[in-house]
Formats: sequence, structure tokens, C-alpha cells
Amino acid sequence: GRRTGTTIPIAAEKAAPERQQPSSLDECRRCDLWQNATQAVAGQGARHAKIMLVGEQPGDQEDLAGKPFVGPAGALLDKAMIEAGVDRKTVYVTNAVKHFKWEPRGKRRLHKTPAQKEVMACHYWLETELEQVAPQVVVALGSTALKSILQSGSVTMKEYMDAPFQHEGRWVVVTYHPAYALRVPSAEARQEAVANIVAALKTAQDLAG
Ligand code: URA
Repeated sequence: GRRTGTTIPIAAEKAAPERQQPSSLDECRRCDLWQNATQAVAGQGARHAKIMLVGEQPGDQEDLAGKPFVGPAGALLDKAMIEAGVDRKTVYVTNAVKHFKWEPRGKRRLHKTPAQKEVMACHYWLETELEQVAPQVVVALGSTALKSILQSGSVTMKEYMDAPFQHEGRWVVVTYHPAYALRVPSAEARQEAVANIVAALKTAQDLAG
């Protein structure tokens, strides 16, 4: 199957608040992104992880594999976790948006940033994961993750990056998205971004106790 190993299959457990509520992530039609994606990519990791890492959306490789953070950004994230002393098997890794949004660029599929209405539509699934996993600490990897967690399209990373904060009974730690660390042009800025991600993971580990 597509979701093997420790992946938690997401199913709506609550009574549907609206008509035509999707019963599973695979069948989700809450926004239109499913139309161009290969499959929905659910979160993966420890069932009751103390730390949940939230990215933006699956990339090209994640869309094909059906697993989060298995491409280049995932490789950088893996390295950062090793450097921070965080075992990937103990955390839960997911995305704000579960379907890959892209546009054709020659033979390639070019990532497109999801619109806030898509982030909000998919927040339903992040909320389900938060309830099931019940982490003590949520790490927002980039702006889209933060906008989903705070359910606001107008928040900026800058105002939340300096220190961890409490939101809905959990700690939230904000850092750069690993793909940002891969694409910043200067080596210095790249190193700073990686260092920030590593520091955020260490902070998350400390807060999780
Ligand atoms: N970028 C993300 O935000 N998530 C992934 O799963 C892969 C790349």
C-alpha cells in the first residue's frame, strides 16, 4: 500500500459538521488541489509523538511516494535532525497542505505556494492529526505551516521566530522551511538558515522534555 510503516491513516472520527464531509484524506474534496496531484500525502511518524513537524505541502517526490519529506528538502531536514539529536522515528512529520500544488514548466512540475483558502481547507486534516498525535510541541517549518497553525493568512514568520510561544495548549516553534535553506543564494545565508532549523529542533526537544 501507499502508506506503510508507521503512517497513521487519517480518518474523520468526529460527526461530520457539514454535509458531504470527506470520510478519508484520499477522498478529500475540500479544495481543488486533489485534481492535479497523484495522491494525498498524510503525515507519518510516531503515533503519540511529543514533537510534530509541519511543512508546507508535498513536493514532486513526496507526491509520487505518498510520504512526507522524502525529497531534497527531506534530506536537509534529516541532516538537521541528526545535528540536533532528534530521532526522526520519535517525531511526527506532516504538511499544512496534503496535496501537491504545481504548474507545468517544460517537463517538470514546478511547486506553487498554496493559497490561504487551500491552507484553511486542509487545516481540517492538520487539526485531526493534532488531536490524534497530541504533541506537546509543534515546529512550523516556514510561513505556510505557521499560517495553518494560527489559521491566519496575515501572520509573518518574523514576528514569531524569536521565541517559542503557546498556542491552543501547545508550544509552537517557528523556523525556516528546509527548501528555503536549499535555495538561498549565499552560502552564509544558507548556513544561517540551517543553523536556525537545528536550533529550533533542539528547542522543541527541550520543550518536549
Ligand atoms: N516540502 C514540504 O513542505 N513538505 C514535504 O513533504 C516536502 C517538501
